[in-house]
Amino acid sequence: MKKVLILIGELSDSAAPDELDVLRQARVVEEELINSGYNTSRAFMGTDLGKTLRVIERSEADIVFNLVESIGGKAELIHIAPALLKSVPVPFTGSGPEAMMNTSNKVVAKRIMEMAAIPTPRFIITGDQTRKASGRYIIKPILEDASVGINDDSIVEGDIPAKLSLVSIKSYRQVFAEEYIAGREFNLSVIAGKNGPVVLPPAEIIFRDFPEGKPEIIGYNAKWDESSFEYNNTIRSFEFDRADALLLEELKEISLSCWRVFGLNGYARVDFRVNESGKPFVLEVNANPCISPDAGFYAATLQAGMSFGEVIERILADTSV
Ligand SMILES: Nc1ncnc2c1ncn2[C@@H]1O[C@H](COP(=O)(O)OP(=O)(O)O)[C@@H](O)[C@H]1O
Ligand SMILES: [Mg+2]
Repeated sequence: MKKVLILIGELSDSAAPDELDVLRQARVVEEELINSGYNTSRAFMGTDLGKTLRVIERSEADIVFNLVESIGGKAELIHIAPALLKSVPVPFTGSGPEAMMNTSNKVVAKRIMEMAAIPTPRFIITGDQTRKASGRYIIKPILEDASVGINDDSIVEGDIPAKLSLVSIKSYRQVFAEEYIAGREFNLSVIAGKNGPVVLPPAEIIFRDFPEGKPEIIGYNAKWDESSFEYNNTIRSFEFDRADALLLEELKEISLSCWRVFGLNGYARVDFRVNESGKPFVLEVNANPCISPDAGFYAATLQAGMSFGEVIERILADTSV
């Protein structure tokens, strides 16, 4: 019987819902692995890398299922897990350290996308004198995910460099400003297959009954506060008009380009905005998207008619060593 070690990042003492979510992912993955006849164990990865190495060795695992999203609450340490796993001869699921680093740093990711001619909204970083910025922008953390640090106040207008500098000084996170794309929002999930990556059915996020002037964004509340207006009025939809066929095809092609350009493995989700003229922009590439049952990736696999067992098998079959 094959042994799978499920690796999770150590949680911080005051873990918020976005951080605790990894435990739900671990539970569903573990259940599915057991159902499929694997022997499973769990380990938490902290900043003591020697300790984690010893745990991996002692587990005698044939494969490590890497669910590390942050270590001690720090999302910027996400790439340490695949980097460490790369140093031992045990295959591990998901993307490797380069892909994880290049996608989790949003500014690095955007520079790579610009070089690869993948459309992404224009942006500026603090102190950058070479790029101009005017109009509506959104100020976002460079190294977070799960909409941490994103709310209605993140949207700014006017003197963008000055506003960015102000937020940079006040915020304990590194931030950048990205052109705000008014329009539609899509998530495209991609999963490994025998003959290369497969794009799952595209999902659109519908902003229902948002009052005039309220930014149509998926901020922190929309993802994590079940009692909030935003949580209850951002609805995932897989239904499209025929008129969207060309756009959806374009989103699929761009998602596959992202997979190739970043060298992804296993599974991923690409987040898009589409402006009012129908031009798509990649906001970010998630190399380790949430796979719990209420998340977009899982919903897309269901929509494709895939069982969770098949999802896990595909992820296990596309490991890095
Ligand atoms: N440039 C943008 N234009 C419009 N909305 C944006 C933009 N950037 C982010 N958002 C909104 O904020 C949400 C979270 O941003 P994203 O870049 O995907 O970060 P995260 O890693 O936190 O998911 C998006 O789903 C979208 O609703
Ligand atoms: Mg996102």
